[in-house]
Amino acid sequence: MKSLRVAMLGCGVVGSEVAARILGHGEELAARIGAPLELAAVAVRDASKARPGVPSELLTTDAAAAIEGADIVIELIGGIEPARELILSALRSGASVVTANKALLASHYGELMKAADAAEVRLEHEAAVAGAIPIIRPVGNSLAGDRITRVMGIVNGTTNYILDQMDSEGWDFDTALRTAQELGYAEADPTADLGGHDAAAKAAILASIAFHTPVTIDDVSVEGITEVSADMVETARAQGFTIKLLAICEELSDSPEGPGVSARVYPALLPREHVLASVGGAFNAVFIEAEAAGELMFYGQGAGGAPTSSAVLGDVVSVARRKVLGGRGQYERRLTTRLPVLPISA
Ligand code: NDP
Ligand code: HSE
Repeated sequence: MKSLRVAMLGCGVVGSEVAARILGHGEELAARIGAPLELAAVAVRDASKARPGVPSELLTTDAAAAIEGADIVIELIGGIEPARELILSALRSGASVVTANKALLASHYGELMKAADAAEVRLEHEAAVAGAIPIIRPVGNSLAGDRITRVMGIVNGTTNYILDQMDSEGWDFDTALRTAQELGYAEADPTADLGGHDAAAKAAILASIAFHTPVTIDDVSVEGITEVSADMVETARAQGFTIKLLAICEELSDSPEGPGVSARVYPALLPREHVLASVGGAFNAVFIEAEAAGELMFYGQGAGGAPTSSAVLGDVVSVARRKVLGGRGQYERRLTTRLPVLPISA
C-alpha cells in the first residue's frame, strides 16, 4: 500500500510529541490506517536547533515547500499568520489538515471550513479544545441529533494549574506561571492564557459547534485571572470556596436582547464541594446539557505535549483512513489486530 505523505508545521511542545509517535509507532498506526504514514517534512523557525528523535534532514524553515505534495498537513505553529495561509494553501492543494490552533479557528472557522469543503478534504481540530479530552467529535457528531442547551467548564489548563497551585500549595502567581510554562501548558505568549482569551477561543469553537452557528472570539465576554491575587484565593478558601476560570456557552430563549447564544469566560467562586472545584492541575472538565441526552461530563488532561498529541494523532488516523478508504470506509473503527481474548478469571 502506498504511504501517505505527512508534513508537520511546527515541532515545539506538541509537535515534538506528535513526531515521536508517528516515528515510533509507525507499524501500529499503519495497521489502523491501512497505509503507512511517511513523515516527509517538519517545518520550524530554527532548523539548527536539536529535535531529539527527529532526523535533521526532515527539518526545513520553508513551510510552504514542506506542504507541497503532502496528503496530510499537521499545523502546530499556532497564531493567525502564517498558519492561516499555510492551512488554506494545504487544503487547496488537496491535503487534509489537522490543527490544534484554537486562536485561528476562533477567528477564521468559516473561511477554513469553506476551503476544506470546496477542496473536498477534511479539516480536523480535536486538539484545539481541552487537550486530550475528546470533545469536538462528541459535540459535533455524537450529539448532532440532539439540542445542546449549555456547555460549561474549565478549558484552560494553565490558569487552572496556577489557581490550583495558589490554592492548594500556597504558591505565588509568578512561580505557578513559570512552572506551567516549564511543563508546556502555557501558550508561547501566556498573555492569552492569563487574560482568558485562550479559554474564550475555545468557548467560541464549542459554541459554534454546539449551537450550529458562527461564534467568534469577539463574541465572547472575557475576564481572565490577572486580577486574582493570593489574598483573594486565600479569602475564598477560608470561606469554603475556590476560584476557577469558567467558560459558559448557552442558548438563551429569554434574554433581554431576545433569543440567542451567549458565551462568557470569567473567574468564578465555586463552593469547594462543587464537582468542578476538584478539577486540579492542568486538567479540564466540560459539562454539556442537552434536551434528550440530559447531562454529560468530560474530564481529562487539558494541556501539555503528550496529552495534546493524543488528540492530534486521533485526527491524523481519522483523515488518513478517509484518504485510504475513500467513500466506502468505516472511518472511525477498524479492528486491526488479533490479540488473545483472555479467559474470565474467577
Ligand atoms: P510551541 O511554541 O512549543 O511550538 C511552536 C512550533 O512552531 C515551534 O517548533 C516553532 O519553531 C514553530 N514555528 C513557529 N512559527 C513558525 C513559522 N513561521 N514557520 C515554521 N515553524 C514555525 O507551541 P506548542 O507546541 O505549545 O503549540 C502549538 C499549537 O498547539 C498552538 O496552536 C497551540 O495553541 C496549540 N495547543 C497547545 C497545547 C499545549 O499544551 N502546549 C495544547 C493544545 C493546543 P521553533 O521550534 O524553531 O521555534
Ligand atoms: N495553553 C493552553 C492551556 C494549552 O493552558 O489550556 C491547551 O489548549
